[in-house]
Amino acid sequence: MRLGVCYYPEHWPESMWKDDAARMKALGIGRVRIAEFAWSRIEPSPGAYQWDWLDRAIDTLAGAGLKVVMCTPTATPPKWLIDRHPDILPVGADGRPRAFGSRRHYDFSSPSYFEASQKICTAVAARYGRHPAVAFWQTDNEFGCHNTVVSYSPAALQRFRAWLKQRYGSIDALNTAWGTVFWSMEYRDFDEIDLPVATVTEAHPSHRLDYRRFASDEVVRYNRMQAGIIRAHSPERPVAHNFMQLFTEFDHYKVAADLDIATWDSYPLGALEEQWFGPSIKAKWLRTGHPDFASFNHDVYRGMSKLPFWVMEQQPGPVNWAHWNPAPLPGMVKLWSWEAFAHGAGCVSYFRWRQAPFAQEQMHAGLNTPDNRLDLGGKEASQVAKEIDLVTMEDGDLPVAAKVALVWDYEAKWLFEIHPQGADFYYPRFAFEYYSALRSLGLDVDVIPASASMEKYKLIVVPPLPIVPDDFAARLAASEAQVVLGPRTGSKTGNLTIPAALPPGIDIAQLIPMRVWRVESMRPNVTENVDQRGEARHWRDLVEAEEGVQVEARFADGHPAILRRGSIRYLASLFDDALTQAIFQDAANAAGLDAQPLPDGIRISRRGPLTYVFNYTSSVYKVPNAGSFIVGQEDVEPQGVAIYKTA
Ligand code: GAL
Repeated sequence: MRLGVCYYPEHWPESMWKDDAARMKALGIGRVRIAEFAWSRIEPSPGAYQWDWLDRAIDTLAGAGLKVVMCTPTATPPKWLIDRHPDILPVGADGRPRAFGSRRHYDFSSPSYFEASQKICTAVAARYGRHPAVAFWQTDNEFGCHNTVVSYSPAALQRFRAWLKQRYGSIDALNTAWGTVFWSMEYRDFDEIDLPVATVTEAHPSHRLDYRRFASDEVVRYNRMQAGIIRAHSPERPVAHNFMQLFTEFDHYKVAADLDIATWDSYPLGALEEQWFGPSIKAKWLRTGHPDFASFNHDVYRGMSKLPFWVMEQQPGPVNWAHWNPAPLPGMVKLWSWEAFAHGAGCVSYFRWRQAPFAQEQMHAGLNTPDNRLDLGGKEASQVAKEIDLVTMEDGDLPVAAKVALVWDYEAKWLFEIHPQGADFYYPRFAFEYYSALRSLGLDVDVIPASASMEKYKLIVVPPLPIVPDDFAARLAASEAQVVLGPRTGSKTGNLTIPAALPPGIDIAQLIPMRVWRVESMRPNVTENVDQRGEARHWRDLVEAEEGVQVEARFADGHPAILRRGSIRYLASLFDDALTQAIFQDAANAAGLDAQPLPDGIRISRRGPLTYVFNYTSSVYKVPNAGSFIVGQEDVEPQGVAIYKTA
């Protein structure tokens, strides 16, 4: 029951279903996700539901002893619905509706779509909510995929004005909060406010940030509607959504608050290719993925999931959607699967059972080739199924007990997109680099929101966090942890203005008395030396350190680069990997944690008495001081996994 697969019975002749189900079961798969794109088959024309085929598909899976993850099909509204209600289509920044003919062509603010979604969700949930084989639910599919959160439609404008009214109460309060006197942008009424798009030069940043907050809240509202309908018709079955890696246009914490399980879709090679990594990193990890990328996401979703998180879609071979689509090295599908379990996953589900010979994703591998033979990914999935039995459930279900927390914040991403000040100031990259430095020291990490309780941690690392919650500094102080604050922390108020006492704001300055009086951004080919210990990149806060603050390192021109007061450190720039690692090692050791640099490409994770070793490199790695091995051995092959138990 720890492995799953995504299956599309509607893509295949019914004569294949029984054999598919039997082969899934034989492979070691327990859970099958279905129907997330099947609306046109469930309701081929308005109100004319066709349940027979889906009933039979579910019964066939159930007959083989499989459990179903049932989905609402709202990521793909059918053509007849769009023709009836063209206002369902989202509107791009160019003012044009996005067309029918792929997927996710809907506007979260459209009242007709909200209503149509309520109807189809109710129909599906009422039909299958109490079916004994339907054990889990998934709402929609990948909110935010294909940049579909922010829409510039008339419906969104109406709802945005109401959202602003609710937030500010009076138009005067809004004018003051935003500072609309600048460039004569003052409003007399909420109905005068337009969408922050198509302006001559950049639209007002506070207006833009509020629009992003609003768009995120629209996703939360939409998901909550679906979760509520499912729960009413399908008691006791956990409700999940499959988040997608860095689709950060909405606040995943807020959506997850309405779910039982946060799941995510893991495509390590596609992600490496499509993210910020430079050409040499992309080449280095071409067929393995970056050793920290999937882990980072596992830790993000573990933290926000009430039940153990899942990987709802695991890359099984080459994908179709990146600029280049290499094949994973043999062993990687298995390694990725084990890595998810090492981070606490309750289930790893592969996308998809069989490669489709038609349509957009015909170049995307499955566990089986289009002629229905087991592909390499399928073979590795079956090995995972066998090995899982070796790791007893009891041990495997022990929690990850991380002593290190990394703060990860969606609003920070939006704010730095709106006000980067330096063109490459990309928040997910910097948060990931901090995370990666911690993992390269062999540390297990919890990823937490800025609002989380911090008491159980010994080391708290805060990537640039421009807006800090009011009680943030107080919670940091109460934790008694070692704290490392990244640059630009506390640099803005909630309204996106500069704090009166200058960054990092009064509360953080009480922990570490200092004042950022000027900032500068740096071109990608420019660095600043830090006391011969390493290089600063992208950004500098020019800081005045006040009494009681120790300057631990300076830039070549004498400005403070690393500041410290007791357990609180402030980094005035983003440093190279080696210097970042050294600072975190120092802080971790001060916290009493054993942090030692691991060999490049080797990663370890701990869960209860189990230690998991992952080898991303091309040479054998010998595990030092291991206990007794449950999976693998002391010599870990390239792309190999070893799991051992310590006394
Ligand atoms: C995911 C999506 C799936 C499929 C997959 C291909 O983002 O949820 O439906 O498109 O990518 O890699």
